[in-house]
Amino acid sequence: MERFDNRRVLITGAGSGIGRATVHRILSEGGTVVGADVNEAGLAETAEQASERGAAERLTTLRIDVSDESSVRAGVASAVETLGGLDALVNAAGILRSAHTRQVSLDEWNRIIGVNLTGTFLMIRESLPALLESAHGVIVNFTSTSAFFAHPYMSAYAASKGGIMSMTHALAAEYAKQGLRVVAVAPGSISSDMTDGRGPGLPADADMSLFMKLAPAIGQGFASPDTVAGVVAMLASDDGAFITGTEVRIDGGTHA
Ligand SMILES: NC(=O)c1ccc[n+]([C@@H]2O[C@H](COP(=O)([O-])OP(=O)(O)OC[C@H]3O[C@@H](n4cnc5c(N)ncnc54)[C@H](O)[C@@H]3O)[C@@H](O)[C@H]2O)c1
Repeated sequence: MERFDNRRVLITGAGSGIGRATVHRILSEGGTVVGADVNEAGLAETAEQASERGAAERLTTLRIDVSDESSVRAGVASAVETLGGLDALVNAAGILRSAHTRQVSLDEWNRIIGVNLTGTFLMIRESLPALLESAHGVIVNFTSTSAFFAHPYMSAYAASKGGIMSMTHALAAEYAKQGLRVVAVAPGSISSDMTDGRGPGLPADADMSLFMKLAPAIGQGFASPDTVAGVVAMLASDDGAFITGTEVRIDGGTHA
């Protein structure tokens, strides 16, 4: 008996990094998954990897732009129909843009809030009816260590992640009596497209001394997305049955 046998899971950000690692982790524990992302090439790679692991028949990939209301409406409806219901929603989709705050345009601010915070809200709102039908309903959101601790050049990102954390607490209280749990993970120092230089990096003239204290205390540097996927799986499974309205920090002791 696996933890996710007969569990139906919708995961955003499934085309890369932590979302992809979570897809593989939940498939490996018997779950049936719809993996959603705006990046279709990334989704194809995730599906290819699932096929190599012999789990292709339990994974469906789907293009959803979480910042677009009509895309989320259609995508969640399609996912719920494919899965025949929904037990868990994992909101891993997100973007990081770093800049001097005095140079952040309103469009850029709105884009970061739109994907990270509003995207998480839209996915939750559209998934709630199906999640409330489940006997095991759970939402796992992605906040960040930047929501709690000072991370320079990331004020919009940090604000979006702080909003996700606050929303997680409010939702947990609102739906607890209906049996729905709402939790968050707060990763930090995890190696992915977002952090390893493949995305837009820090400003060229960034003061690197501000990052001196932002290093993991354990391990050899940034950790694998698998280290977060295992915690997400615990929280989304019945092992997390008494956990709601809180977040788990996964940062190798960067902020210990
Ligand atoms: N890597 C870290 O150290 C770290 C730290 C704190 C929080 N996080 C959070 O973890 C989550 C996963 O990030 P990651 O590190 O795996 O980064 P990543 O860039 O590898 O993955 C993010 C995924 O989200 C997708 N995405 C972006 N915009 C989207 C949209 N509008 N609609 C649908 N999908 C969209 C991207 O295509 C990508 O596949 C994010 O929410 C991120 O903010 C990561």
